[in-house]
Amino acid sequence: METVEQQINYDKVNQLVEIFNLIGSGNYNTSLLGEIIIQLAPPHITAKEIAAAEQRLINAGCPAETAGHLSATFVVIALTESTGGTVDLKTGLPYNHILRRIVAEHDMIRCFIADLTDVTAEIKPMNTLSITSSEFMRLCHIAQHLKAMEEHVRAEEDTIFPEMERHAWASLCRDARNDHSYITISIGDLLSIVKSFGKSSIKFNEFRAKLIYVSDYLCPTMMIHLKKEENTLFQIALAMIRDQRIWGRMKAQYDYIGYCGIHA
Ligand SMILES: [Fe+2]
Ligand SMILES: [Fe+2]
Repeated sequence: METVEQQINYDKVNQLVEIFNLIGSGNYNTSLLGEIIIQLAPPHITAKEIAAAEQRLINAGCPAETAGHLSATFVVIALTESTGGTVDLKTGLPYNHILRRIVAEHDMIRCFIADLTDVTAEIKPMNTLSITSSEFMRLCHIAQHLKAMEEHVRAEEDTIFPEMERHAWASLCRDARNDHSYITISIGDLLSIVKSFGKSSIKFNEFRAKLIYVSDYLCPTMMIHLKKEENTLFQIALAMIRDQRIWGRMKAQYDYIGYCGIHA
């Protein structure tokens, strides 16, 4: 669905603003709205109308992040009501689809995050640790892989997010971009903690406290982020971007980078 020639229907924008406010107030109920929600589901609603409704909330004092979250929540509810469900990204798309590749990378990240949770739990009760211990070597390995997977974050921001923002609506990826900033800082912190212990520049107690702090933040934040992309962001993009040439273009850009975190 291209945004350029779309005309705005302000009756629909008004209805959207009302529904966004209902979702925000927690008084939202799909059975209450019945058919209206289906009539406002993509492709009956355009990207410009969603963006206009979001802007209306921002003009009324709603923080941009909250407005973005409300519109994304609405689109997922509307799609679920109108189509009966979302796409299973692991089985509902061909292997050469860009989102199939991205979800495969997500699963690799999930494995490293699960390993980080485990090794942190193993180090937690220890009183000492050497750089040759299996726990520390495992931690080094995980931290290096997570650092390499940062490429995934950059690839999303440089290739698919700009296309999604251009062809769905401008603020669609705002929340995911925010998550990326915090995740990148946190992975950088993890690597520097590991390096400083490797160089014996910090004592074990300090190393352990910092490791627990970073791990306790990074692990749930990353898991929630990946789920948000798969359950909300990519579902909306699939519903709103119907032109397969756009998906092909995103795939070609991503192919140029290659499989993130894995290079021959
Ligand atoms: Fe991401
Ligand atoms: Fe991702």
